[in-house]
Amino acid sequence: MNAMVKAEAVHKSFGPVEVLKGIDLEVAPREVFCIVGPSGSGKSTFLRCINHLEKINAGRLYVDGTLVGYREHGNKLYELRDREVAAQRRDIGMVFQRFNLFPHMTAVENVMEAPVQVKGESKAKAQERARALLDRVGLADKTDSYPAQLSGGQQQRVAIARALAMEPKLMLFDEPTSALDPELVGEVLDVMRDLAEDGMTMVVVTHEMGFAREVGDSLVFMDDGVVVESGNPRDVLGDPQHERTKSFLSKVL
Ligand SMILES: Nc1ncnc2c1ncn2[C@@H]1O[C@H](COP(=O)(O)OP(=O)(O)OP(=O)(O)O)[C@@H](O)[C@H]1O
Ligand SMILES: [Mg+2]
Repeated sequence: MNAMVKAEAVHKSFGPVEVLKGIDLEVAPREVFCIVGPSGSGKSTFLRCINHLEKINAGRLYVDGTLVGYREHGNKLYELRDREVAAQRRDIGMVFQRFNLFPHMTAVENVMEAPVQVKGESKAKAQERARALLDRVGLADKTDSYPAQLSGGQQQRVAIARALAMEPKLMLFDEPTSALDPELVGEVLDVMRDLAEDGMTMVVVTHEMGFAREVGDSLVFMDDGVVVESGNPRDVLGDPQHERTKSFLSKVL
């Protein structure tokens, strides 16, 4: 079976600064794959490379067996057109630290927007699905609320429902709970746990080590643009082998 995500020697620089220095990893279908590491280690940059929000400078990135952002011909890479990149991105849901909901739209309108605008789904069908998705994230009673009327945790759950509305085969989460008040973190993690149990493939950048340990199937520790250590989350978090991992975990655990 194809890996859902496969990174081979992925390099990324911003000007002269190399931020990813050769990332190799594989995410299996249905796997919850956690990425932890200090600020500035390149976690968000790597996630953004997976859906080609950032272009990589060297290496290869595949999603579900398909090269991301490029076509390979002979030994050369040709950049895909914007339209082709957009088509690839449609299969990948992304949830950010900041929820980025449309403020002038209700919850249900936020969730319907992409299926109607991008996929050309009928409004009636998109609305029915949006209501079902909001129900699934525990917000059946908030479908007609505007983002400003929702708590951070509720907004983030709308953002997850919105990503799911495109029926992605892969979900990327970039610190989805780190902007939330502590008492709201649990409700978002619960939704993510449900998604995992349903078999969604998820790559999760997180500082929630409890979530990583309980829900994660794999974990990598990144530092300074490289994967320092990887394995079963229980092993890596419980018995880190590298000094850098130990030192990081001693600060966050
Ligand atoms: N668009 C950009 N232009 C220039 N430098 C950037 C850009 N985006 C990120 N960087 C730099 O790349 C490095 C990695 O950033 P990145 O956001 O990937 O780190 P991170 O591991 O996600 O950190 P955090 O835990 O703080 O979110 C940082 O030094 C950052 O300043
Ligand atoms: Mg980040």
